[in-house]
Amino acid sequence: MNHLSALAYVSSATNLLSESELEALLVSARTANHQHGVTGVLLYDNGSFFQYLEGAPSAVAIVYERIKASRQHHGIIELDYGLADARHFGSWHMGFSVSPRSIMLSLSQSAWTRAAATATEASSSSAGVALLLDFWMNGSRDA
Ligand SMILES: Cc1cc2nc3c(=O)[nH]c(=O)nc-3n(C[C@H](O)[C@H](O)[C@H](O)COP(=O)(O)O)c2cc1C
Repeated sequence: MNHLSALAYVSSATNLLSESELEALLVSARTANHQHGVTGVLLYDNGSFFQYLEGAPSAVAIVYERIKASRQHHGIIELDYGLADARHFGSWHMGFSVSPRSIMLSLSQSAWTRAAATATEASSSSAGVALLLDFWMNGSRDA
């Protein structure tokens, strides 16, 4: 019944992106993500990216290939890639926020491995997802 994958990674922009370059990237990403039913968020701070994606495993794999093929960034470090228990950003085909360095650092240092569900606690979301959701719901956002 669990047919969802989630991917979280950080990377470095090849060149500092202008606002219009970021916009073009987002249009391209959102179009493809919509097509594949992939949702998530992209955070950017001064040349650093953090991205979280979720969707059907085959869809996430296709989108990840596009992401890895992009020359607009390099040095992808996977924080998490595996089965997910639930979709957390269902209405965002790619939410975007210019984000403070502190949150980028916290996200990259967070634990992304999902805690095993216990008899008393059904939740199996990782600390990383919890931090990201808290930032997304309560932190400031641009778009
Ligand atoms: C940080 C970053 C995030 C991206 N996110 C997505 C995405 O969510 N979905 C997608 O289909 N492509 C994504 N892409 C790929 C872009 O939409 C686009 O295909 C790519 O940047 C074009 O790069 P190129 O000119 O080097 O081919 C992403 C690329 C970068 C650099």
